[in-house]
Amino acid sequence: CSNIGEKKIDYTKQIPENGNISKAITEKIGKNLHCKRDHPLNIIKKKIQYHFQNELSDKEHRFQFFDSFEPKVTVKENFDELLFPVDHIGRSANDTYYFGGDQLLRTHTSAHQSQLLRSEKKAFLVTGDVYRRDTIDAVHYPVFHQMEGVKVFKNKVNNFIDGKPFDETIDYYEDSHYKQLSSVKDVENDLKQSLESMIRSVVGQDLKVRWIDAYFPFTSPSFEMEILFQGEWLEVLGCGVVHPKIMNNCGLSNDRAWAFGIGLERLAMILFNIPDIRLFWTNDNRFHNQFKGIDKSDSSSSFLSDINIKGVQFQQFSKYPSCFKDVSFWIEDESNFHENKFYEFVRESCGDLVERVDLVDKFTNKKLNKTSHCYRIHYRSMDRNLTNEEIDLLQFNLREKLENHLSVKLR
Ligand code: PHE
Repeated sequence: CSNIGEKKIDYTKQIPENGNISKAITEKIGKNLHCKRDHPLNIIKKKIQYHFQNELSDKEHRFQFFDSFEPKVTVKENFDELLFPVDHIGRSANDTYYFGGDQLLRTHTSAHQSQLLRSEKKAFLVTGDVYRRDTIDAVHYPVFHQMEGVKVFKNKVNNFIDGKPFDETIDYYEDSHYKQLSSVKDVENDLKQSLESMIRSVVGQDLKVRWIDAYFPFTSPSFEMEILFQGEWLEVLGCGVVHPKIMNNCGLSNDRAWAFGIGLERLAMILFNIPDIRLFWTNDNRFHNQFKGIDKSDSSSSFLSDINIKGVQFQQFSKYPSCFKDVSFWIEDESNFHENKFYEFVRESCGDLVERVDLVDKFTNKKLNKTSHCYRIHYRSMDRNLTNEEIDLLQFNLREKLENHLSVKLR
């Protein structure tokens, strides 16, 4: 919510002309880890697909799988059609990778919802790589994988009970009458039951699950699912009833639908006890060999078989020590500096040897009216010891390029 008098930023007018996609990111496009047999992300994907194919499909809803949509999509597909307001921070070039023009790297698999709804698909799962500019640590990486699920309920909108199928004047995010309609409640209940059964079939039958109210521009009501894992409640997915305006725009004004989106890395890290998200990208066989042979399914058959992952736990092979170096600088142009730009710069400059970057100090010199940031960069390799000399060199190169790149002054 914005304060009265506060100017809203129209991010649709700030799309960078020449894009903001670094080489490190470009190299990830097309890797399609979720399609590589025996990759943990592929195993998780198939387990979920198996459940939808065998337990959650019925005559009217045979779940179809789409695993190879290109991650390059339009602003319209990723944001506009999903009713993101123009001042939604997700649209900003600090959060999203733009090619320039109106093309971007999808930030979520929801970018394909409208297209598939228009083509009258009634039940589908879309899996793909998604991209977000983000901080660097063991659980955040600017590329990860999501699976989107949608199920359409035909002729669910009863004009007699529901009033007009779609009414511009209703605020569907807030309207309690809408949320109480039996057609909406039915869809909500089916959604929750389906996802609870799915997550239990993947993680374990006695898993504790709870639902938290949430907000997404493209669903109402919206929820997040949390699961109790090793004493902690962890958020695993977002979901909701598809906003009536989207149904209307897709020519489905008499129907309702539910949708969900789940992050695959998160789930794989929990299930297999994988401690660092960078491992999904490694070529090291000491990682990949641990997942070989678990998937016994016949890849030529269109029917999946369930994969037994009981007891599959990743055994850490790298406890190579980490080391850290600090870098401090004055920010010359406050309005142009964004932490994500710095994180990205570090990744671009030093690659995957950077395990984590923390802001360890920040202060403003009142007299000079300047702010200083100090960042601690943690270096660690997954497969070898790093030498002092190579880290010094990385840090030296980083410092050299930093001033030109980000209009800051090293201290
Ligand atoms: N796209 C949302 C995200 O990335 C997840 C979501 C999908 C929520 C579908 C609701 C419905 O966070």
